[in-house]
Amino acid sequence: MCSFLVESCAWFLLSFCAVFNLDKGGIVKRRDFITRVAAAGGSTYAVMKALDLMGETASAQTGPLNLRPASDRSRVVILGAGLAGMTAAYELRKAGYRCTILEARSRPGGRCWTVRGGDQIVETTGTVQTVQFAKGEYFNPGPARIPQHHITIQYCRELGVPLQVFANLNYEQYYYNEGVPGGLAGQKVRARQAKADARGYVSELLAKAASQDRLDAQLTEDDKTRLVDFLRTYGGLDPDLFYRGNARRGYDAARQGASNNPGKINSPFSLSALINLGFAGYESFEQGYDQQMLMFQPIGGMDRIATTLAKKVGNINYGAAVTEIRKTQNGVRIVYTDQGSTKEIRADFCICTIPLSVLRTIPSDFSPDMQQAIAGVDYAVTGKSALQFNRRFWEEDENIMGGITSTNIGLGTIWYPSHNYLSQRGVVVGYYNFGAVAAEFGALSPDARVQRAIELGSRIHPQYRSHYDTGASLFWPQIPYNLGGWATYTTASRQQFYPRLNQPDGNIFLCGEHLSYLTGWMAGAFESARLVAQQINQRNG
Ligand code: PHE
Repeated sequence: MCSFLVESCAWFLLSFCAVFNLDKGGIVKRRDFITRVAAAGGSTYAVMKALDLMGETASAQTGPLNLRPASDRSRVVILGAGLAGMTAAYELRKAGYRCTILEARSRPGGRCWTVRGGDQIVETTGTVQTVQFAKGEYFNPGPARIPQHHITIQYCRELGVPLQVFANLNYEQYYYNEGVPGGLAGQKVRARQAKADARGYVSELLAKAASQDRLDAQLTEDDKTRLVDFLRTYGGLDPDLFYRGNARRGYDAARQGASNNPGKINSPFSLSALINLGFAGYESFEQGYDQQMLMFQPIGGMDRIATTLAKKVGNINYGAAVTEIRKTQNGVRIVYTDQGSTKEIRADFCICTIPLSVLRTIPSDFSPDMQQAIAGVDYAVTGKSALQFNRRFWEEDENIMGGITSTNIGLGTIWYPSHNYLSQRGVVVGYYNFGAVAAEFGALSPDARVQRAIELGSRIHPQYRSHYDTGASLFWPQIPYNLGGWATYTTASRQQFYPRLNQPDGNIFLCGEHLSYLTGWMAGAFESARLVAQQINQRNG
């Protein structure tokens, strides 16, 4: 083991003990965490739950809603035919409510959107892109991955939207960072190698510390033996407890094959190089509760959910942009423009799914505290691009069958398609970035963004240059009727504004992903819609 590791040993142990609450003043004062691991069935999730290290963010997933039949006051106007608005209509109609949906766009779905050849992407700056993808190719500019435990899956089942696996993690994908110390700068590091090495080294350190009696304050003799045995297997260590690389990291030097080709395992990267690469950040993202494999996508594009729901709901008034939201004595009055002419509609209730970023620009009768809350929530600054290539070089040259490469060169992530494997062409997400970098890309013309994606991406995949066909890009803060990615609460805005947003204002109920703890997920829209449908039902049932 290199000297860096020896020096880092104490630090590692401290971190480890902190994670498992093993410090002297901690809750688990001595040793028995292994017993707890065993008792919990050995799964990380179970152990983390046992140690209360995970937040509780699961969807309720309670099955179909059973609303009471609607009473006389049953007219509901719904603002927005995104997933929240359509789900509210879908659920309320089952109970006999008369719902009208106003939708500013000419399509349903809002952010649940799929772009295909011939479609247009218009931004508030006036740019218009007409997408040139080949037949059968598509790009999901908004939501693109569904966790198994989200209620979204339940709605796909109920609506009959077929799903396929979305590879959110592929051991063949890369971590590629430039300008980092430690020897891995500018190197395409396979996830498989980084994972095997990080695990091996951490196991080695802990196994050594335990076997050298450095953890006696925490471990009984028996626990110690069991821990070392565990780490030997977990980390793939030598009998003498060294990590020297193993087959888990693959045979990239010389592959295993027939006859006299046993394969050659490369030497591991150093632990310091992996730390400097930022591997912990990448891996912990992949391990997030909402990001863990398996993940899913509708076959043919995310908008399958929206278009199927729209068919069930019917009667969506497209091209209807809301210009005023008013309270009346017993209900609501909504003014909107419909193909250029001004119209109004009155109803007993209003479900308003317009994103707060847009809602704050619309004249309304919301009470002052509600106005303040609507104005007080930030939205994600985020953008994406899609690049169609005429050859699947990532599959053909690099064995990457789906998955996501992470990088620090401004692109955020590069997504390889999880469908139409082995076909000729394919659409790759060239970047998906956030914050200041996303704003920099967003300020460019759509074409310049794509050129930038190609220029930067070709440092990872030089094949970009010779196989690029056509591309598209978008910046969510400049997409009309969205003006941002999704609600991003801070602890303060959650405390200060969220409770008010959840309370109806007169007979107006706000609804959408921004009214949930699943912000940035379709599940937030579904959950919120179900809740609001129930609340209206309780008020007038
Ligand atoms: N659901 C989106 C995604 O997976 C946005 C998001 C990212 C939401 C990370 C929460 C956390 O990319």
